[in-house]
Amino acid sequence: MRIVKTTDYKDMSRKAANIISAQIIAKPDCVLGLATGSTPIGTYEKLVKRYKKGDLDFSQVRTVNLDEYKGLTRDNDQSYYYFMHEHLFNHVNIPEESTNVPDGTASDGDSECVRYEALIRELGGQDLQLLGLGHNGHIGFNEPSDSFAKTTHCVDLQERTIEANKRFFASADEVPKQAYTMGIGTIMQAKKILIIASGEDKADIIRDAFFGPVTPRVPASILQFHPDVTLVADAAALSKIPE
Ligand code: GLP
Repeated sequence: MRIVKTTDYKDMSRKAANIISAQIIAKPDCVLGLATGSTPIGTYEKLVKRYKKGDLDFSQVRTVNLDEYKGLTRDNDQSYYYFMHEHLFNHVNIPEESTNVPDGTASDGDSECVRYEALIRELGGQDLQLLGLGHNGHIGFNEPSDSFAKTTHCVDLQERTIEANKRFFASADEVPKQAYTMGIGTIMQAKKILIIASGEDKADIIRDAFFGPVTPRVPASILQFHPDVTLVADAAALSKIPE
């Protein structure tokens, strides 16, 4: 794993955007796996700026998002579909049909998971997968558990995740209790992985996930087995890693 230490959130966002830009320039029709949460917002902002300057072209890029809340419609401003349009898709020249987010309103959840997994395979898998990191080590919505989930599936969100995400909703009661997420296997098949983290509150989990044992109790720890991972994190998030 390569670790890129940045001074702060802004610097993390710039360096992460550099890596994504390089991927798009090297392979204009690449498949990008994308993430939501507060961490990637600055990265998306930088990508939009570069597109507006004429330095990036998204016309052939295809995207697959990691996850989506079950039950939220696309026009709900807390859905990840909405998030991606607000922060990236509406501001660059990516065709709507090239973007993919699990359908939170699918009537048959199992079929939706099978459809989404097959779609990623048909696209040839992610050339680059962007990831954030939950405080309990979740990636996408793969919560700590007894085993690593292979493919796209529906999960029950853990109390800590609901607590962490309630800041985006009117109250904790409004946070959906379930979500669709790519599996750990779906994430691990990406050719390259870029994981970003910022702030002191991520320092413990960065240490546990990347310098502790590989265990499904800390889902992100599996990334230690991936051959091409870059962690871009600020000094505060890296403050507890061993020398
Ligand atoms: C959510 C998302 C994850 C994200 C995590 C961390 O639960 N499903 O993909 O990585 O939150 O969020 P933040 O970046 O806001 O800390």
